[in-house]
Amino acid sequence: MDKFVVNGGNRLCGRICVSGAKNAAVAILPAVLLAESPCIIENVPDISDVHGVLRAMSALGATVTPITRNSFEIDPTGVRSYVVNKELAQGMRASSYFLGALLGKCKKAKVAPPGGCAIGLRPIDQHIKGFEALGAKVSIESGMVVARADKLSGCSVYLDMVSVGATVNIMIAAVRAKGMTIIENAAREPHIVDLANFLNSMGADIMGAGTSVIKIRGVEHLHGTTYSIIPDQIEAGTYMVAAAATRGDVVISNVIPKHLESIIAKLKEAGATIEEGDEFVRVAMNKRPGKCNVKTMPHPGFPTDMQPQFATLLAIADGTSIVTESVWENRFRYVEQLTFMGASIQVDGKSAIITGAKKLKGAHVQADDLRAGAAMIIAGLVAEGQTEISSIEYIDRGYEMVVEKLTAVGADIKRVSDEKYGYTLKAN
Ligand code: UD1
Repeated sequence: MDKFVVNGGNRLCGRICVSGAKNAAVAILPAVLLAESPCIIENVPDISDVHGVLRAMSALGATVTPITRNSFEIDPTGVRSYVVNKELAQGMRASSYFLGALLGKCKKAKVAPPGGCAIGLRPIDQHIKGFEALGAKVSIESGMVVARADKLSGCSVYLDMVSVGATVNIMIAAVRAKGMTIIENAAREPHIVDLANFLNSMGADIMGAGTSVIKIRGVEHLHGTTYSIIPDQIEAGTYMVAAAATRGDVVISNVIPKHLESIIAKLKEAGATIEEGDEFVRVAMNKRPGKCNVKTMPHPGFPTDMQPQFATLLAIADGTSIVTESVWENRFRYVEQLTFMGASIQVDGKSAIITGAKKLKGAHVQADDLRAGAAMIIAGLVAEGQTEISSIEYIDRGYEMVVEKLTAVGADIKRVSDEKYGYTLKAN
């Protein structure tokens, strides 16, 4: 298994270009199945979660042709299967989006339950509630989720909690239903808007994405389109925090600053100087970060996917901060790893009380999940000495060329292979 080896202490300075959004890509790609002619999708991040989705699409019968590293032509007209089995679904949380896409396309779908990060129970009851309201019957057969419908009809669905996944899945299933579907208490994340823009560019009729009420007027046909995925808000936020934590000065380009508002606000509160351009943000920090409290919330609140990275910044802040996690019930597993590096953090239910340490020390740590892994990289960058991070396959799920991007701004980070005869340096 590969590891990252980070020698801490370097200030990050320079420019990092952000890749396409993982969470938009894993929703938009399955939705391509609904098109009646090929689509070209651009700005697709080169990460393992996306390759998992493309592999599943190809297994279903779609023809996936790479044009460049980050753009693909996908022809879904050859899709005959409606089954995504366990091998294909494993390791990608977004496998559930094939339920909505195949239900919309074939009126039937059989999909193994999603894998993904160990950040808490990941129920799909709200997705199922939506499918059933649209007229589908949903059951569990031999461990697979099976949805079938004679026809899909527009409906009103009120989500009991703000769920990104349920909002995505119901939108995808409803675009070709007969009549109007209304999703109330919908998620408002940037990738929901991106998915709606993509579907509309195929001929769908979706209004209100980005608000908590989304209206989807069903259409009979969806045509192929060329579409470019938005930049990744969380990748951008991760590098912003890394810049601040190392007291660096980094321009993070190919971003939509509006999507970063809550992260910008909290970084400013911690003492960073932030300049915003049309498509970039510049983060500079010339002192020890100050304490601040953070509570994760659905968009436009502070994203849960930035919680471990921000907590790492607060672990070296001057003073005591409280981080409250209100989306996932098990998102503090990384705290133990940070304490191996000298952080002082006490978890009490949904909150972590962080007493800033003057410095962290390099240690052997593991990535417990994708964003926990990003937090370990930030911790390694600021720590004294060497940090070895294992289980980096989680990080590969969501960060394209993380070693190259960080090295270009002055970090000392390498990917190494833990091979039989010791460590072998290897290109990322
Ligand atoms: C998505 C993101 C993930 C992010 C999360 C919250 C993708 C691929 N993943 O995950 O990175 O951390 O949003 O911003 O976009 N819930 C239910 N029943 C359901 C659905 C959700 O109880 O049917 C609960 C979950 O347990 C969780 C909360 O609702 O506590 C939010 O989950 P949701 O927004 O659905 O997250 P995901 O779409 O899985």
